[in-house]
Amino acid sequence: MLRIAILFGLSASVIGAHDIITTKITWSKEMSRLVYKRCAMCHREGGPAFSLMTYEVARPWAKAIKEEVLERRMPPWQAVKGFGEFKSDRGLTQEELEVISDWVEGGAPEGDPKFLPPAPKPAVWLDPVSPPGAAEIDIASGTRIDAPVSAAAIRPKNLAKGASVQVVAKRPDGTFAPLIWIYQFNPDFVRTYYYDSPVSLPAGTEILMSPEGSGAFSLFAAEVGPSFRKTRGVR
Ligand code: HEC
Repeated sequence: MLRIAILFGLSASVIGAHDIITTKITWSKEMSRLVYKRCAMCHREGGPAFSLMTYEVARPWAKAIKEEVLERRMPPWQAVKGFGEFKSDRGLTQEELEVISDWVEGGAPEGDPKFLPPAPKPAVWLDPVSPPGAAEIDIASGTRIDAPVSAAAIRPKNLAKGASVQVVAKRPDGTFAPLIWIYQFNPDFVRTYYYDSPVSLPAGTEILMSPEGSGAFSLFAAEVGPSFRKTRGVR
């Protein structure tokens, strides 16, 4: 009995000051892959934010990483998942949140470096501000779209810092199309969101925002109907 206690004591001191490891999720296997895919476009040497590319530099940030991702501040995608379908959705999935949370709670172990993936290729975070040739339409709560529009992308235009706002299109037939739900807007990370497939908004569609009067967005129309061109002078 005494010997077992001593052994335990020893192995605990070998792990040293680190937390007790209670997870199978490791940096070398799961976390490095997640960070390379979701964070590396900014958190790398020479990038706009401090590097998270290796275990040594990421480990001290473990608690902050968990907090930032659970608060949805990082990665700064800002659009709530499932409300509008976007191309290259950069928000974390529920599974990814669980991987991060388990890794941090379980003591943030390194694992065997032989499992590390190759360094990621440089990737871009921002998509073009507007689709080429698209017409830009300003929308706010209550805007009526007076000619058919095929919306390719949307971008916050005038939103207060910290604002959370849902934007919905109410079509004349009574159906609703979710356009975007911005959560705690941070203007430092403003971007254009491209729809997976264009959202068709017939003439007479009304834009609703919740809360009302939260600001304005730009809708980028890939195609606009002929009467729209006439009334708005779009060429
Ligand atoms: C679009 C670029 C970008 C992406 C992508 C991104 N971050 Fe960040 N992150 C930043 C910037 C910019 C800061 C502020 C940096 C600074 O203060 O030096 C930051 C700050 C942080 C912080 C520190 C917050 C604090 O305590 O001040 C953590 C932790 C963090 N990011 C984690 C992550 C993780 C994890 C991911 C991926 C899941 C990620 N970030 C993706 C740009 C990004």
